[in-house]
Amino acid sequence: MAPHTATCSAPVNIAVVKYWGKRDVPLILPTNDSLSVTLDQDHLRSLTSAAADQAWPAGDRLWLNGVEESIGESGRLRTCIDELRRERRALEEKDSSLPKLSTFPLRICSENNFPTAAGLASSASGFAALVSSVSTLFELSSSVSVSELSRIARQGSGSACRSLFGGFVAWQGGEAADGSDSLAVEVAPREHWPELQALICVVSDAKKGTPSTAGMQRSVATSPLLAARIANVVPQRMDTMRKAIAARDFESFADATMQDSNNFHACCLDTSPPIFYMNDVSRAIVALVEELNRASRAAGSGAVAAYTYDAGPNAVLYAPKQNVPLILQLVRHYFPNADFDDTFNLLGAGANASHRGAQ
Ligand code: DP6
Repeated sequence: MAPHTATCSAPVNIAVVKYWGKRDVPLILPTNDSLSVTLDQDHLRSLTSAAADQAWPAGDRLWLNGVEESIGESGRLRTCIDELRRERRALEEKDSSLPKLSTFPLRICSENNFPTAAGLASSASGFAALVSSVSTLFELSSSVSVSELSRIARQGSGSACRSLFGGFVAWQGGEAADGSDSLAVEVAPREHWPELQALICVVSDAKKGTPSTAGMQRSVATSPLLAARIANVVPQRMDTMRKAIAARDFESFADATMQDSNNFHACCLDTSPPIFYMNDVSRAIVALVEELNRASRAAGSGAVAAYTYDAGPNAVLYAPKQNVPLILQLVRHYFPNADFDDTFNLLGAGANASHRGAQ
């Protein structure tokens, strides 16, 4: 008999209110709520196939971009797979006619169509695609909601929980010690604000110096500014951002996005020893967008674009569609030698199955 298989893809999401800090490291519970925009599937996505077959030698195996990775006895991959197996086992206990996929060895193969770990949120799309493909293989769609799947993906990489949904997505940090209420919810579907587009400016595709997992805990341990951000900045900003999205108010969305990026990078600088994710090109892009917005506002028009940076030097610019040609022209003019990905990514639909179910 052929193996049972499923293939799913999941896009990258880029936060406009950043997650930075864990209150529980093993469970990946955040110190604050966050909010992101999921990009489309065409440019930055992970594609993952999962297969199960009784006849295979025991033990699960995983390949990432063609290279085998160890799943290990503990760790993030193991936690996600174990949780999904537990859900499948519950289904099999209810319906004894189902094949006992929970007992079969798994083979998982995942590919990114962009540089891994260059601050382009590869762990987010990677874990979201893994959880989607294994849950599709296990036929969990009727028993486990997308938010429940996001709770599982969160334990792979915090930001991954947000890539289970398309459009505008909040990760509710939650309060429960076991993490049961720490999951992603849809704020608005992508159709809500189709004019909003994203441009990725790939300043560098090198692996980042300080991985976010280590960097954020160093900030939690040493940065008084991060403590103030968590207590006094993020709650109001989540509120502002939700209202801006609901009203499709780009002025307010742009201000909150840029302020949050700057506040997050200020916390990185306030960390001891400091963490530098942005470089001179990143800062030149900030200056360009700020000047563009200032001039546009002085002329009576609104903000042209909003920049945001994750744990790396690459800029993500959000802008209404009609501003895209102007931004592209300026970026090309001021950075003639830079290797920019000038593709605008429409907001995307979150993780989705390109091939469903067991055969
Ligand atoms: C700056 O989700 O990569 O991109 O939970 O340790 O895997 P782990 O961290 P990760 O951190 C992402 C941090 C960020 C901000 C964000 O995406 O909200």
